Amino acid sequence: MKRFRRLRAAPQLRELVRETHLHPSSFICPIFVEEGRDIKTPVESMPGVFRYSVNRLAELLDEVNISGVGGILLFGIPKHKDALASSAYDDNGVTQQAIRYIKKNYPGLIVIADVCLCEYTDHGHCGVVHDGIILNDETLPLLAKTAVSFAKAGADMIAPSDMMDGRIASIRSALDENGFSHIPIMSYSAKFASGYYSPFRDAADSAPCFGDRRTYQMDPPNRREALREIEEDIDEGADIVMVKPALAYLDIIREARDSFDLPLAAYNVSGEYSMVKAAAKLGWIDERRIVLENLTAIARAGADIIITYHALDAAKWLREGEH
Ligand code: PBG
Ligand code: ZN
Repeated sequence: MKRFRRLRAAPQLRELVRETHLHPSSFICPIFVEEGRDIKTPVESMPGVFRYSVNRLAELLDEVNISGVGGILLFGIPKHKDALASSAYDDNGVTQQAIRYIKKNYPGLIVIADVCLCEYTDHGHCGVVHDGIILNDETLPLLAKTAVSFAKAGADMIAPSDMMDGRIASIRSALDENGFSHIPIMSYSAKFASGYYSPFRDAADSAPCFGDRRTYQMDPPNRREALREIEEDIDEGADIVMVKPALAYLDIIREARDSFDLPLAAYNVSGEYSMVKAAAKLGWIDERRIVLENLTAIARAGADIIITYHALDAAKWLREGEH
């Protein structure tokens, strides 16, 4: 008789036949670094997440270092913002300072630098704005300059999240021309215009002051277009491609995995994190169980790399064993 239950009878047996395993080494932990000194500010909408100044970063990085997570994704929050995001490509900007500090004190830690203009512009859009329009080609050189500046500071990888067309080609050639042909690009290839980013915008102080991001980020209903975006980024030279958000887009992750052979990342974004934290705080769900189930779902859908604010907790739970 068919008995599916035979292999479910004991934890050891379940572990033996488990098809998907989570590894802390495939998690990436996002980190917010704010310009200034002695800052450790909680992000209201993301319990457990803080903005640190460079001189307080060690508290977090010591934990990252022992956690076994695969790397960090860095977001800088500058004091000075202007129309052309000049702090983004200032070699002495907050992100560059943070990268130098981290690579000096934690040389083995993989530092991935998010490249976008929205944290550095006074209007909060991801590109150059003219008459209320976000200009594509005028934005590309600024992104390229920013990527080169981050690489010069010591970033191990560049992660463009702006969704301008042609940015991977521009960034790739700027890196190559400046002696950084060895630095990989992880592209936010299929990044959807999602309501799930709002807690991040509190954290990074990057909400657009007019309009929204729908003219450059993808329309959520579009599956085929996501594959075309990914294909284009691969043609332009991306080394790792990404789907973002993760949980509401598991179908896109699966299709991308089946269609392309590059390493695939998925971003378990701020809103996905905050919903879990809020429900857990109310006692409505078991946080550990839900987090590991969510991360497993993202891995099962086909992601090799998971960027998640749960990275340190999940790594700890996995170290503790049986889930
Ligand atoms: C910057 C950027 C955003 C996120 C990552 N990089 C915000 C946005 O596009 O508005 C979102 C991450 C998250 O919600 O956790 N472009
Ligand atoms: Zn942006």
